[in-house]
Amino acid sequence: GAAPSGCPVTQMAEAFDAFEGPYQLDPAEALRWSRDQLPIFYSPKLGYWVVSRYEDIKAVFRDGILFSPRNVLEKITPATPEAMEVLKGYGYAMNRTMVNEDEPAHMERRRALMDHFIPANLEKHQEMVRRLTREKMDAFINEGRVDLVDAMLYEVPLNVALHFLGVPEDEIAVLRTFSVAHSVNTWGKPTDDQQVAIAHDVGQFWAYAGKIIEKMKQEPEGTGWMHETIRKNAEMPDVVTDSYVHSMMMAIIVAAHETTSLASANMFKTLLSNREAWDDICADPSLIPNAVEECLRYAGSIVAWRRQTTAPARVGDVDLPEGAKLLIVQASGNQDERHFEDGDKFDIYRDNAIDHLTFGYGSHQCMGKNIGRMEMRIFLEEMTRRLPHLRLAEQAFTYLPNTSFRGPDHVWVEWDPALNPENEHP
Ligand code: HEM
Repeated sequence: GAAPSGCPVTQMAEAFDAFEGPYQLDPAEALRWSRDQLPIFYSPKLGYWVVSRYEDIKAVFRDGILFSPRNVLEKITPATPEAMEVLKGYGYAMNRTMVNEDEPAHMERRRALMDHFIPANLEKHQEMVRRLTREKMDAFINEGRVDLVDAMLYEVPLNVALHFLGVPEDEIAVLRTFSVAHSVNTWGKPTDDQQVAIAHDVGQFWAYAGKIIEKMKQEPEGTGWMHETIRKNAEMPDVVTDSYVHSMMMAIIVAAHETTSLASANMFKTLLSNREAWDDICADPSLIPNAVEECLRYAGSIVAWRRQTTAPARVGDVDLPEGAKLLIVQASGNQDERHFEDGDKFDIYRDNAIDHLTFGYGSHQCMGKNIGRMEMRIFLEEMTRRLPHLRLAEQAFTYLPNTSFRGPDHVWVEWDPALNPENEHP
């Protein structure tokens, strides 16, 4: 038998915990040792190979055949038998969506469902984002203190997502519970007791998704991406399958919404903690698009994604067996100084910020990336114009512990309403 190794790097690999400690505090910083000394390592606690360097992560994303996305939505902490019983009771059958589908089925489906993402459609939603943002801001602009998440960054992306998808907005109150349950269920480490409660929420989310589909089928002329999906399902049931429609209905609400809300919360926290950058964009809004990209690089909302090898494979100089599970940590790659000079420094003038891996890379790259970017850009345009004197309040930031979805639960900010530019010129 092997004696415990005295090698400090091996000890770091053995100690790596994706659910608590340094990784939850700051995933990029937590893997600095790995980027420098052991860029691909096996984590015995997680049962995954962790990949931390930019080029290695990109190489994994690039080859979707050898590195299959089939485990992307798998429960990273396996369900307990009790939780499985609960899920079965709801007929839970989450399966392939798009993000976890192998080729050639994936590309065929992606092509069949791509039309809705054209720029003209984005334009239309841009007006909606602007209007909703202004309405939310009107409600708090004279308050002097607000939690940006509760006051704006949660609901605006949710409304935009539901509108883009064509999902009726009548039951949005339950979606927050459902989304958190889906995230913990897929990327978290619930205790045995929590597993059962979460299984009930996830089961209800599944049933709810089924009900929405039935409701939407009553409106054959309905608009939105999920309406098109439902029509394609009737036209080409082998490409856009029934299972896909139901699974996607549940997954896309989280994929389109939670990702954008969290990225926006990260963005305000980061910019307000880097006052010069905030002041610079207040003075020159043309800096906003690159500032958004830099925020996505430096503090993205998807910090790690997954792949599984379909044959023996080599990443960097490590040989992996067939079936190896990989945790590819974009947050780490995004700060890799081998690709980004002074990668751990936030710099809105960085000329290659857009190279970040927060939207993934290759054939599965995020289809909604320009919607997310557009929302973040409009949030910044409106906030820097109307509340340039905004400050981050004293607070302890909290996060939902999980491997992949990252953003503060709340972002409290303060300002003096008497100094609002719009109050100065009545
Ligand atoms: C896929 C991140 C917003 C729809 C992905 C992937 C990531 C991601 C990491 C997997 C990429 C890969 O495997 O290479 C994000 C982030 C967002 C965001 C950080 C916001 C800041 C959205 C929005 C929508 C959306 C707003 C839809 C309206 C999708 C879809 C896929 C996807 C459909 C699957 C694409 C495929 O597998 O071919 N996203 N996303 N995302 N995203 Fe997003």
